[in-house]
Amino acid sequence: MISKRAQQLQPSATLKVTGRAKELKRQGKSIVSLSAGEPDFKTPKHICDAAIKAINDGFHGYTMNPGTPELREAICNKLKRDNDLDYDASQIICSNGAKQSIGFSILALVDPGDEVIIPAPYWVSYPEMVRLAEGTSVPVRTSFENNFKLTPKQLEEAITDKTKALILCSPSNPTGAQYTAEELKDLAEVLKNYPQVYIISDEIYEYIVFEGEHVSILNVAPELKDRVILINGFSKGFAMTGWRLGYLAANDEITGAVSKIQSQETSAPSSISQKAGEAAYKGDLDEVIAMREQFKERRDYLVEALNAIEGVSCFTPGGAFYVFPDISHYIGSSTPKDTKIESSTDMCLYLLDEFGLALVPGDAFGEPNGIRLSYAASMDDLKEAINRLKKGLASLT
Ligand SMILES: Cc1ncc(COP(=O)(O)O)c(C=O)c1O
Repeated sequence: MISKRAQQLQPSATLKVTGRAKELKRQGKSIVSLSAGEPDFKTPKHICDAAIKAINDGFHGYTMNPGTPELREAICNKLKRDNDLDYDASQIICSNGAKQSIGFSILALVDPGDEVIIPAPYWVSYPEMVRLAEGTSVPVRTSFENNFKLTPKQLEEAITDKTKALILCSPSNPTGAQYTAEELKDLAEVLKNYPQVYIISDEIYEYIVFEGEHVSILNVAPELKDRVILINGFSKGFAMTGWRLGYLAANDEITGAVSKIQSQETSAPSSISQKAGEAAYKGDLDEVIAMREQFKERRDYLVEALNAIEGVSCFTPGGAFYVFPDISHYIGSSTPKDTKIESSTDMCLYLLDEFGLALVPGDAFGEPNGIRLSYAASMDDLKEAINRLKKGLASLT
């Protein structure tokens, strides 16, 4: 009999839709999928070359558990160069993807019964990671009107004496919302009054921002540094999802605890990927910027096209590669076969089965009135997706 822990865990909803879309495609159906959570670009060549060199040089062994000193040094230099943040290499732990860094941070911080505040819509893994640590996730539903950003008032109301951490994600998956310096400052003002609350700041989409510069909560509230666990990685900005390389930066107590967990669960990430990551941070960002420009073009197209559809409204997200329109107008409508669309999940299944369009329902992210469209897809696919979405929604009464 498998453990209660494993039984309670929900499978990733994003992977469920992608899986069904793949199965329909395999059956020969025409499917357009905007459900991917990874860039549709190739990893830049100088990064691949560094990995090939590592293989040819015989860099094949285990590395130090928190990552090679060279990679951690490159990360510190990057945090200084791009974020104006000072960290020592001893405060960095490299991992098999940011996902692992978040999961191990939660395991290091959360005791059974501790609460973790998670602004909704949220990345699907956060609540499940809290559940694995036997903590209690406290989703706080943000509003479409506020571009799905947590307000200081909402934060204040959610904090109790059991609150252990807040997870902030900017730019956000699934909404693309990007907090401004001012907004982060206002949240930091609240957090200053609660010294027991840690902040897990997930900045994995840092390089995909369209309006101004990426801002970390640490830039506006450096006095919180001891309580912030900065999460980042290579997957999104450098199109390196399959290389599995991420990291966290935090104080010595937290890195010590995470390091122990990592040493017993996985050890360091792949030696080859670490050499690739080093090259990514030591090289120029030309290709990162070129990818960002393409993402911006696609975002602009999608936001305009979505807002032109009756009953759909979509704010212009500042980053990542997702849009998250409000489709509440269609919840409660009926299909031509007289099936009721009761939820965003019903909507996505209808669009997939009848129109061959794969999107991810907002239900998966804790926001029933939205759907997530990823624009990590070609412009042709985006146009076709909009055609199918228009037809799908027009068929509902
Ligand atoms: C918000 C967010 N955080 C973390 C991750 C994990 O990234 P990685 O590939 O580095 O594990 C993802 C990936 O989808 C994400 O969307």
